[in-house]
This record gives sequence, C-alpha cells and structure tokens, in this order.
Amino acid sequence: MVTPALQWMGDSHGYLELIDQRCLPGALITLEVRDTVTLYEAIQTLAVRGAPAIGVAAAYGLVLAVQNASGDTASQAMVDLRAQADYLAKSRPTAVNLCWALDRVTRAAEAFVPGYASADREALLACVFQEARAICQEDVAMCLRIGQHGQHFIKDGFGVLTHCNAGALATAGQGTALSLMFEAQKKGRDFTVYADETRPLLQGARLTAWELQNAGIPVRLICDNMAGWLMKQGVIHMVVTGADRIAANGDSANKIGTYSLSLLARAHGIPFYIAAPSSTFDLSLASGDAIPIEERGAHEVTQIRDTVIAPKDIGTRNPAFDVAPAENITAIVTEKGVIERPDREKIAAHFKED
Ligand code: MRU
Repeated sequence: MVTPALQWMGDSHGYLELIDQRCLPGALITLEVRDTVTLYEAIQTLAVRGAPAIGVAAAYGLVLAVQNASGDTASQAMVDLRAQADYLAKSRPTAVNLCWALDRVTRAAEAFVPGYASADREALLACVFQEARAICQEDVAMCLRIGQHGQHFIKDGFGVLTHCNAGALATAGQGTALSLMFEAQKKGRDFTVYADETRPLLQGARLTAWELQNAGIPVRLICDNMAGWLMKQGVIHMVVTGADRIAANGDSANKIGTYSLSLLARAHGIPFYIAAPSSTFDLSLASGDAIPIEERGAHEVTQIRDTVIAPKDIGTRNPAFDVAPAENITAIVTEKGVIERPDREKIAAHFKED
C-alpha cells in the first residue's frame, strides 16, 4: 500500500495535505497547507521533499495563491500568482521540477487571462486548479511507467543499493527509483534492497527503509560509508537512485553521496541507474557544471535532530546535492523508456519523439 506524500483535499477551494516527513518514521502526521508561506516553509524544511513531490506541491501552491489573492478579477489575481510563483521558486534551488511546475501553471494561467480580461478570480482559480491537478495526475502515471520500464533490471537474487528516498514519499505516485522495486516485486522477483542511511538528514534510514518495510520488500539499512565495501564483497548487483535535475548531456544531480556511489559502482563494474520523469530534465543546461547545488545550514551536520554531535562553533560544509557524471551512468529510466549510456544525442532523441 503506497502512502500518498501529498494530496489536494476538496475542490478548487480546498487545501493541500502533506505528510510531514520531518516526523517520520516516529509519527505519521499530516499538515494542512492553506497558504504559500506555510508551503514555502514546508518545502524549505523538508516536510515535503523529493523533486517530483516538490513540483506537485508548488503547482498546488499557486492554487492557494489565487484563493488568497487580493482583488476580484482574474487580471488582479494574476499579479499575486506571478509574485507567489517567484517566491516559491526560491524555496529550494536544485530540483528543477519546482520551477518546471510553477512555470507550467503560470503559463496556463497567462494563456487564460488575455482571452478573459473581464473574467472573475473564480474562473482563473478553476483554470489553475485544473493545471495543478493535471501535473499531479501525470506524476502518478509517470512513476508507474518508470517502474514498468525499469523493473527488468532487478533480477532474482540481486542486492539493489539505493540512496536517499526516491519512493512514494518523494512523488505524487509510487516513486521513481523505488517504483522499479515495486514493479519487480509485483513480478514476484526475490531481491534485497540496501538503503544508505543518507546523512545528514537520513532520508534513507527514516523514509526509504520505512517505505520498503511497509511494502514488504526485504531491506537492509546501511551507513553511507559501507556501500563500497559491500560492492567489493559482491553483495550489491546494481545501484538505482532518483534525480533532482538532469542536464542535456545526462549529468544527473541527486542527493549528496550519489556522485561517490557512481564512482564506486564504476570501479566495481556494477550498473548504476537513474530513474526520473521528464520533468526532472533541464535541457537548457549543457552539463551538470551549471546545476545549482543547494548549500544548507551547519546544524544539519553538527546535529542529528536535536542531539549535538560535534564541537560548538566547528566549521562545516553542507552541500545537499552532487552530480553523477553521465559517463558513470549505465542508463536513465524515464516514463518514456530507457536511455542506455546517456549522452546529449540520445537524450535529445528521447525527447524529440513527443
Ligand atoms: O533533499 P531531498 O530529500 O529533497 O532530496 C531528494 C533526493 O535527492 C531524491 O533522490 C530526488 O529528489 C529524487 S526523488 C524521486
């Protein structure tokens, strides 16, 4: 049973309900989000997280923006919508799905307003709600197709390493990397997942281990520094992770630690897969060098939740993401199929078919 990370409650006048992922696995608590300030805080503090989930949440955030807009006309509400889109775009910089979803809803609203200059705010609200709901529904479908396209990589007897959380909690559907696992499970395949704990915020330990355990998929939690040794021991047969932004040449940004895993996998001759929807590709960037990497606060490194684990005032670095170079990636699995040994030409061809 897949737990929805986020769902819209009610009609266009409703609200966004999120699982508060900061509290997992200890408590399954939901948050009611009724304004963009609350949503911004929820995204920035990782109550809702994972690239596709952030995108869907942001799309619904613009529904909230129109609900709360000043003025009764669609044109007046558009001013607030644009301002709130700019505001939400700043909540986290690396996952391109955020800006992708905000742009898509804004464009749908802009296409609506000129033709309906005298329309009231209610009509704009209906239009924005329809687009946000479409983004959410498409994400559910994309997740399923990603799993269906990539499940065959998981063979009987495999040890499958994953990093961070690219499961149902990170999307509106059943996840990206974990979708391969859910689909392999449906086929009756027997495999074990090795979940990196994923310091500093422990998405692997708190979220991936929780999701897989709930789904009845055998999972072993490991500390991040154990992956290389387990590869050497022959325990790991493949690596699959999600992504936050994929450049035109296939370089893929994902949770910090993914770069090292891609090098380790290559050194051990182990296939390394990325699973991501098309909304995670940023074809405007020539390579991963241009992907903005979020740097987060020192407290995430010096503390585990409220427990301090380092000397007071110690200097830190806390890049939240890194980039796995395309040459280390065996294949990228999208909702459209599999891009083997990704490069600029293959990625362009993959998306040309649209
Ligand atoms: O900081 P987070 O928890 O938002 O980071 C999430 C990841 O790195 C995921 O692997 C990525 O967003 C893909 S989720 C399908």
